[in-house]
Amino acid sequence: TNKLLLDVDPGIDDALAILMALGNADVEVVGLTTVMGNTTIENTTNNALALLEFVDRTDIPVAEGAGRPFADELVMAEYVHGPGGVPETVREALPDPSTEPIDQHAADFILEQAEEHGDDLTIAAVGPQTNVALAMAKDPTLPDTVADIYQMGGALKTTGNVTPQASFNFYVDAAAAARVVQDGWPTVVGLDVTEPAYLPLEAQERFRGRGSLGDVIADILEYKAQGPDGTVAEGGSITSDAVVLAGFLGDPLTYEDAYVEIDTTGGPSNGATVYDEHGVYEKQPNCTVALDVHIEHCREVVMSNLEKLLPE
Ligand code: BDR
Ligand code: CA
Repeated sequence: TNKLLLDVDPGIDDALAILMALGNADVEVVGLTTVMGNTTIENTTNNALALLEFVDRTDIPVAEGAGRPFADELVMAEYVHGPGGVPETVREALPDPSTEPIDQHAADFILEQAEEHGDDLTIAAVGPQTNVALAMAKDPTLPDTVADIYQMGGALKTTGNVTPQASFNFYVDAAAAARVVQDGWPTVVGLDVTEPAYLPLEAQERFRGRGSLGDVIADILEYKAQGPDGTVAEGGSITSDAVVLAGFLGDPLTYEDAYVEIDTTGGPSNGATVYDEHGVYEKQPNCTVALDVHIEHCREVVMSNLEKLLPE
């Protein structure tokens, strides 16, 4: 089995990513680390604990991490995920957690797990990159120790989703994203592949009515299909973090090594992914980027993994 550490800011697509990993028998989730992002660190930790309790997996440790970005003020995305990071209906379905995070900071937990599992361990960081950057600041050899660091973030050839240039996760803590992208040789899974692989509205029907977890998944997809103004978004539900997991669990994405920088200059393209598509810098690649997605295959990897925890 592959060991996986999920660094998350749940957040509803984070919740889907967590559920996919928990359902997949080939993966052992060694722990969740939480980071601020979609909502405050108090809320992301609470939501992570609540979700694990909901699916009876309180055996999985949760280590709380960064409560604010390195340099920037925290910008949140509750308008996308719901008040406190999840929609009301999901909040009502989840328990108030009876467990607590472990007594270790996320960055230390990441380093400890890397030490213990070496290249059996993959890290998937699907929120702002602060915890991974902190861990790398403490121990710059982290990327060499683990099998891979997957990131949800970046907008290579497409536009951003929080500013015209930047993806949310990289915008929130551009300094952290820059360190992980430029020093960590991560696998960057950006909006270029996650947005086209949105789940169409019919996907909700595959989950609705299949127990309380099926309803939670359907509620998440329904909420994610709405624009901030309550209108139904064109096409369906963008589930970026779930697409990252699909890339790890299956093979719907194609990748290329590339030279990438993250803009930290603080101007209108702060947090933007500067992707040297044509090699004009003549620099060696520093990361692997997802460039294409097999859309139908990706949707199936996402949905079939989400289904594994559900009753028939
Ligand atoms: C990413 O930012 C967050 O809002 C989502 O959870 C996802 O990780 C999408 O840009
Ligand atoms: Ca996220």
